[in-house]
Amino acid sequence: MSDFFNSGWSLYVAGITIVSLVFCLVLLIIASRRKVMADDNTTGHVWDEDLRELNNPLPRWWAGLFLVTVAFAVIYLALYPGLGSNKGTLDWTSTGQHSAEMDKARAQMAPLYAKFVGQSAEELSKDPQAMAIGERLFANNCAQCHGADARGSKGFPNLTDNDWLHGGTLEKIKETITAGRVGNMAPMAAAVGTPEDVKNVAQYVLSLSGSPHNEVAAQLGKPKFVVCAACHGPDGKGMQAIGSANLTDKIWLHGYGEQAIVDMINNGKVNIMPAQAARLSPEQIHVLGAYVWSLSQTSTVAAR
Ligand code: HEC
Ligand code: HEC
Repeated sequence: MSDFFNSGWSLYVAGITIVSLVFCLVLLIIASRRKVMADDNTTGHVWDEDLRELNNPLPRWWAGLFLVTVAFAVIYLALYPGLGSNKGTLDWTSTGQHSAEMDKARAQMAPLYAKFVGQSAEELSKDPQAMAIGERLFANNCAQCHGADARGSKGFPNLTDNDWLHGGTLEKIKETITAGRVGNMAPMAAAVGTPEDVKNVAQYVLSLSGSPHNEVAAQLGKPKFVVCAACHGPDGKGMQAIGSANLTDKIWLHGYGEQAIVDMINNGKVNIMPAQAARLSPEQIHVLGAYVWSLSQTSTVAAR
């Protein structure tokens, strides 16, 4: 991969670099030469009546230091990429260094993860080291969406409540993390009927969780719920196989109240949990999955 559009720019940049180095060197040599200007070794410049500028050469230590920096630049440019698109003799790249360090870290961690891989969620949740690793992985990869405390926010599920769209066993959680999930509810208004019908179904949905609702409207909406039952089940408890939400609890991922439900029916929703397989190894996902699992087990949470 080159940062330059064509070799002309590369030569141009390399040329400027070399010319600047040569210029520094020449300037240094000229400035180090002692030029006799006057018998009393002054330049003839006088300030504030009696302040005379002497014509001394550069101090040797200073000139030496300068030479060292120029020599350093030459050696550096020979070894590392710096002269235009020249790769340098060491063939070093930042991405190469990064992946080498990642490989090294993985190799160092391998024996540790090997110990965890065979363990169940229960066992891992009692292992402080595994939970510390899980917590770190969560903070680095998941907290930006699910929150540092994993309690989520509107649209991003709370992972501590044991209410699962896609399933809360370690296997299901690992599946979610590895391959990601797409929660997909189609806009349903047309299938339901008039805007009045939509409001009535929304009242019926509220009644399912025992939330405050208008009983007359809910009864009118009940027959319309058949179109929802295909995904949410006849009892509204949802189906984890397709990630349809449980409508009978008081947990609302996309907002609570008639308006929020009407919006869901009218607009539908596509909610994406991105796959992590490219970022995390299967071993990391195993430990992280157990950490997420442990968050929803109140007894473990309380013990921590
Ligand atoms: C870009 C935002 C984002 C990131 C990053 C993210 N998630 Fe998610 N996650 C979501 C969304 C959105 C959903 C809900 C998907 C749906 O509605 O079906 C979700 C769903 C989940 C679920 C399923 C919850 C359930 O009720 O079944 C789990 C478990 C989960 N995420 C864990 C994680 C873990 C662990 C990480 C870190 C590796 C992570 N997520 C990173 C956005 C994110
Ligand atoms: C095609 C399948 C499908 C149908 C049909 C469907 N839903 Fe959904 N619904 C879903 C899915 C999947 C989700 C979860 C979206 C997500 O992952 O964020 C959902 C979520 C919801 C939510 C949000 C729950 C929350 O916790 O905030 C409500 C409310 C809802 N549906 C109501 C309805 C109603 C009312 C109907 C019928 C008019 C209906 N749905 C029909 C699939 C469906």
